[in-house]
Amino acid sequence: MKKLRLAVLFGGCSTEYPVSLQSAGAVLTHLDREKYELYPLGITRQGRWLLYTGPLEALSGDSWLEDPRFLCPAVLSPDRNTHGILVLDPAGIRTIAIDAAFPVLHGKNGEDGTVQGLLELAGIPTVGCGVRASALCMDKDLAHRLAALAGVEVPASALFRAGDSWEELPRRTGALRYPLFVKPARAGSSFGVSRVANPSGLEEAVRAALEHDSKVLMEEAVPGFEVGCAILGTRGLTVGQVDEIELKQGFFDYTEKYQLLTAQIHMPARISAARAEAVKRAARKVYWALECTGFARVDLFLTPDGRVVFNEVNTIPGFTGHSRYPNMMRGIGLEFGPLLDRLIQLAVEV
Ligand SMILES: Nc1ncnc2c1ncn2[C@@H]1O[C@H](COP(=O)(O)OP(=O)(O)O)[C@@H](O)[C@H]1O
Ligand SMILES: [Mg+2]
Repeated sequence: MKKLRLAVLFGGCSTEYPVSLQSAGAVLTHLDREKYELYPLGITRQGRWLLYTGPLEALSGDSWLEDPRFLCPAVLSPDRNTHGILVLDPAGIRTIAIDAAFPVLHGKNGEDGTVQGLLELAGIPTVGCGVRASALCMDKDLAHRLAALAGVEVPASALFRAGDSWEELPRRTGALRYPLFVKPARAGSSFGVSRVANPSGLEEAVRAALEHDSKVLMEEAVPGFEVGCAILGTRGLTVGQVDEIELKQGFFDYTEKYQLLTAQIHMPARISAARAEAVKRAARKVYWALECTGFARVDLFLTPDGRVVFNEVNTIPGFTGHSRYPNMMRGIGLEFGPLLDRLIQLAVEV
C-alpha cells in the first residue's frame, strides 16, 4: 500500500509553543510508520519554519533546534502545483509533495485559522477545523454569541477593548455579579486569565488580559465545575466520554493544567448518565453552531442545579498520550493510534 505523505506542523509563533512540542512529540511517536511517510515541520517561537529530521525525543525536551544537521529551512507553498513543502536547501530548492497536513499547533498562529488558511490556499487536506471554525472558536466572545444563538447557555459577560476609556469599565460591568473571570478573548492555556473577587481588582485584571489580546472578555464566574467533551467527525459525530476537572483551589491556570498540582481530572466525569447526556447534547450543538470539522474539545461548566453552560472550544486540544481529548476517546474504546488514523482519514476523504 502506498504510504500517505503527512506534514506534521509543530511549535508555532504562540505562547503555547511548549505545549505544542509535547503534543507533536506524542502524535509523531504514535503515527504508524507503515501507513505514513512523516514530514515534521517545526515553527520556532520567532516564526522560522524548519523541516526537522532529528530524533523525536528532542521535541518533548525542546532541544530540536540544537543540532543544525537535523534542520533545514522549509515552508509550505501556497502554490497548488507544489502541493507541499519547499525545502530551502543551500544546494537548491527541493519540493516534497504531501497528501495531507496535521497542524499540531496550539493558540495563535496555528489554532486560529491562520495556518488553516495557508493549507486551504495550497489545496492540502488538513486535519481538524477549517479557517472559519478555527477563527470563531479562537475568539471566545464570538463563540459565545453563536452558541447562545444555538440555544446553549453562556456566562453573562461584557467586553473591553484596547483603546476604550477606563472610565467605561464600571458601567460595562455594572450588571455583572462578582466574582468575574477576566480573559483575553483570543488566547489559551489560561494565559492572561484572572479571577476577580471585587471591583477593586478589575482594572489590573483587564490590563493583564490586554497583554495577550486587544479584546478582553469579563464574565460572571459559573458555579459548579468544568467538564470536557471530545468530539470527532465532520458529518456524523463520534462523541467521547465526558471528563471532569476537580479543582481544590483557585481555577484551572497554566500550572494546574500541565502539572495537576492540586487539580484532578476525572475520566469519566463523576456525574449521572442523564447529566453526561445533557453535556454531550450541548457540546454537539456548539460544535455544529461553530461549524467545526474533524475534531474539537468542547469545554462547558456543569452547575450544581444541573445547568450546562458553554465555556470554550479548543479546535486543536492538547494531544499528548495523557491529554484529555485522547483520554476521552480512549473512554469509548478509541486508542491513540487508531484515533490519529480516523482524524487523518476525515481530512483526506472530505
Ligand atoms: N466564567 C467562568 N466561570 C468559572 N470558571 C471560569 C470561567 N471562565 C474561566 N474559568 C476558569 O479559568 C480557566 C481558563 O479559562 P478558559 O476560558 O478556559 O481559557 P483558556 O482558553 O486559557 O483555557 C477555566 O478552565 C476555568 O477553570
Ligand atoms: Mg480552557
